[in-house]
Amino acid sequence: MVNIFVFSGTGNTLYCAKEISKKLNEESKIISINFSNKNSFFCEADKAIFMFPIYAYTIPSIVREFIKNITLKTSYIACVVTYGSSVGYSLSETNKLFLKKNLTINYFSKIKMPENIGSLFKENETKNDLIISLSNNLVNEISYDINNLVNNKTKTSSFISLFPKALYRTFERTIFIKNRVSHKRCNKCRLCTIICPLRAIRFENNAIKVNHSSCTHCQRCINNCPKLAITLFFQNHKDKRYTNKYIKLEELL
Ligand SMILES: Cc1cc2nc3c(=O)[nH]c(=O)nc-3n(C[C@H](O)[C@H](O)[C@H](O)COP(=O)(O)O)c2cc1C
Ligand code: SF4
Ligand code: SF4
Repeated sequence: MVNIFVFSGTGNTLYCAKEISKKLNEESKIISINFSNKNSFFCEADKAIFMFPIYAYTIPSIVREFIKNITLKTSYIACVVTYGSSVGYSLSETNKLFLKKNLTINYFSKIKMPENIGSLFKENETKNDLIISLSNNLVNEISYDINNLVNNKTKTSSFISLFPKALYRTFERTIFIKNRVSHKRCNKCRLCTIICPLRAIRFENNAIKVNHSSCTHCQRCINNCPKLAITLFFQNHKDKRYTNKYIKLEELL
């Protein structure tokens, strides 16, 4: 049995995980990382694959927590990330997390996918379609490697790890990454409270409130709000939103 642990805000990583899963020789199970399992999970499997997007050159905080807390019994660990432009030092960072648990990652790989972070990267749909179709070749290679227990260990360095950590913390703490809700536009449908993987959004005193300290910045609420009422500070309500068109919202929950 192969367990595939997936964190995906807007569907790119889940899309890749589903494609890899179809091509594995062994039976596989996709397990979504979310608020309910991030603090404790027991896994005994022949292979464990961890899949997540890159945020600010490193690992989303929810995935960091999940890896810290999981009890893992397996003889093969693979880590496959999706990214828009650069994975930075994320592989070294992830390696370090596993080493702290006396575990070693056997296999790393990365898949370029469309950018999902708001209006910063206004790619058109044709370009995004091309990026997704190119990802299929990589998915084939990665599945082949995992089927054949390929080992391509990455070295880690505590010096370079300081940079992504500092960058991510700044990113998390600044206004740059804090979601704002326009109470004028919001129709109080409460979809955002249900779809947030961290349950960081609540409906309180007849208004939507975001708990910024729990948010992992996945963009799911921003990109799925039917009234485009949630934005980052550099966005306006008319800006394009991104979700992977091959993944339904329900699949991410
Ligand atoms: C908060 C945030 C930060 C990001 N930072 C990076 C980055 O540093 N490098 C990069 O290549 N892509 C970055 N991205 C893009 C995502 O990694 C990429 O679009 C990914 O495929 C999204 O996966 P998902 O749809 O499964 O959530 C960032 C996305 C978000 C939401
Ligand atoms: S999804 Fe959008 S419209 Fe619905 S409650 Fe949330 S912010 Fe308001
Ligand atoms: S508040 Fe929005 S961006 Fe933050 S974790 Fe929840 S769904 Fe993702």
